[in-house]
Amino acid sequence: MVTMAKQKVLVAGASGYLGRHVVKEFVERGYSVRALVRNKEKLTDEGPNFEPPVAEIVEELFIGDAVDSSSLKNACRNVDIVFSCMGLTKPQHNITSEQIDHLGNKALLEDALSHGVMKFIYISVFNADKMMDSGMVKAHELFVHDLRASGLPYSVIRPTAYFNDMGMFFSFARKGHVFLLGDGTNRFNPIHGADLARVCVDAAATMGNSEIAVGGPDTYTYDETNLMAFQALGLEPKITHLPMWVGDIALFVIGFLNKPLKNIISFALAVSRIDNVAPATGTRHLKDFFKKLATKGG
Ligand SMILES: NC(=O)c1ccc[n+]([C@@H]2O[C@H](COP(=O)([O-])OP(=O)(O)OC[C@H]3O[C@@H](n4cnc5c(N)ncnc54)[C@H](OP(=O)(O)O)[C@@H]3O)[C@@H](O)[C@H]2O)c1
Repeated sequence: MVTMAKQKVLVAGASGYLGRHVVKEFVERGYSVRALVRNKEKLTDEGPNFEPPVAEIVEELFIGDAVDSSSLKNACRNVDIVFSCMGLTKPQHNITSEQIDHLGNKALLEDALSHGVMKFIYISVFNADKMMDSGMVKAHELFVHDLRASGLPYSVIRPTAYFNDMGMFFSFARKGHVFLLGDGTNRFNPIHGADLARVCVDAAATMGNSEIAVGGPDTYTYDETNLMAFQALGLEPKITHLPMWVGDIALFVIGFLNKPLKNIISFALAVSRIDNVAPATGTRHLKDFFKKLATKGG
């Protein structure tokens, strides 16, 4: 009997929320995974938002840091597909979204081109065109521009918010009081990492180029989301709405003090201003995620 060699995929950002779900999904669907990480220890245990431990299932590790593009050289050697959700989502000292989301991924793309990779799958954001004032969104889209121009077959996935970001609302609710920018009526459909991972791995198997907007199965307002968090905790809801200008002033001040933080906060502000409802997929519900978080101490 002739056995087909497994396709090899490089997962960049493999230690993150989405990355770990994607590693698991690729392995379960028969791919061999090389994980690109800065710190392999992060793959070992379950994450704070129930990210699966994947240290035992990745076939190879590649240690690299997007800040130092030379450390990414040969990450794509003998790889068929590159998947990247490598991005700056939390402030890191003196590091900007441009360095990671744009230039780090660009270095990976150049390596992929030099090694004859067949396809590059990249995670940007839903509604990017409405949020180009955010440094983080701009950095994502500068990379998307490079990817489209590269000639390499690609898929760009454009998700709404992930459940790990909803974990942030949950931790405020646990403290007993949520401060929300805006009137809380904007709507969005957040998605679980495992549901999004299915979409990402489906994209690996499709031919040609694609851009895929995707959100989770349920749509909520920000108020409903926070009420659900209080309910899961069995706490009396306390939500204070702050006018958007409070966020704008905070952003203006932070801009002078801390540019990396400014990029991240400007994204949070941009997202709060608009409805973010993408085509729905998946089977996992935020209500259940909150109930599970409520069973953990904190
Ligand atoms: N979370 C959301 O709601 C959301 C919504 C839409 C789009 N996105 C985008 O989706 C992507 C993944 O999001 P996530 O929530 O899964 O983020 P995450 O948990 O913070 O994961 C980000 C990944 O990028 C890696 N990374 C960061 N800086 C790096 C560097 N200098 N060198 C190498 N790797 C680096 C992280 O490594 P470490 O573990 O070492 O930090 C981690 O593996 C991001 O690009 C984000 O902008 C997120």
